[in-house]
Amino acid sequence: MSGIGIDLTGRKALVTGGSRGIGRAIAIRLAEAGCDVAINYLRSRGPAAETAEAVEKLGRKALLYKVNVARTDRLDGMFDAVREEWGKLDILVSNAASGVIKPAMELTRRHWEWTMDINASALIPLSQHASKLMGDEGGHIIAVSSLGAVRAIPNYAAVGASKAALESLVRHLAVELAPRKIRVNAISAGVVDTDALKHFSNRSELLEESARRTPAGRLTLPEDVADAALFLTSPLADMMIGQTVVVDGGYSITG
Ligand SMILES: NC(=O)c1ccc[n+]([C@@H]2O[C@H](COP(=O)([O-])OP(=O)(O)OC[C@H]3O[C@@H](n4cnc5c(N)ncnc54)[C@H](OP(=O)(O)O)[C@@H]3O)[C@@H](O)[C@H]2O)c1
Repeated sequence: MSGIGIDLTGRKALVTGGSRGIGRAIAIRLAEAGCDVAINYLRSRGPAAETAEAVEKLGRKALLYKVNVARTDRLDGMFDAVREEWGKLDILVSNAASGVIKPAMELTRRHWEWTMDINASALIPLSQHASKLMGDEGGHIIAVSSLGAVRAIPNYAAVGASKAALESLVRHLAVELAPRKIRVNAISAGVVDTDALKHFSNRSELLEESARRTPAGRLTLPEDVADAALFLTSPLADMMIGQTVVVDGGYSITG
């Protein structure tokens, strides 16, 4: 599906972790619909540059910005770059995530803080900066979550708890920002075959089991998540505020 029918021409978007996987699919979907896109990444410039090239091939402008979203003290540089280039921001997609995949009994305080800082806490300064660049017409903030927020998944205690905190923050931010016409929502995705799964020792079983148990008959693709993001940034979703939209082919409603 392309962005046909949803016209975001002239809008400016920032996608954290936009260089690979789900973030890349969202960056490209928004560009197809007319957005210029700032792509944030942490370590690897190559994939970020490839995403920027894909955005530019669609006739849109791309900005690349390398920063750890957990470094609150360094985020202003990224938003200054957006302000200098575009003067405003219409859409923030808080997609970057990391985390320690271990049994809860093996988690250290450092593991916990690393995971919470990137996956949950970062949404606060990101939203503070982004909202300042959103004008009278408002904007959209979308956070990317996972089913571990509401389900117990082996070795997922830290990441699951961080996503639960993220979804709660989304509801609180949504209420605070609604009067400013800034709509805040989350998308919770089922298992998506990206590089993130390399951190799971049982990756192939996870993929097989998820595909087998998904009523839709296949795994969720990055593009499925991107379609939901496009919908949430469109006027079609004007009355959706503080929601977590599950995109998982029905996986989470079974068994
Ligand atoms: N894959 C799944 O099954 C799945 C399921 C549900 C939800 N999700 C969620 O979807 C989102 C994207 O996941 P993915 O699977 O697409 O991940 P991925 O392929 O591993 O990509 C992660 C992206 O985030 C960037 N990143 C990581 N830590 C960062 C940090 N501290 N600051 C800035 N950028 C950072 C990476 O940049 P570098 O390449 O430069 O490191 C990369 O662009 C995450 O929120 C994840 O929890 C994933």
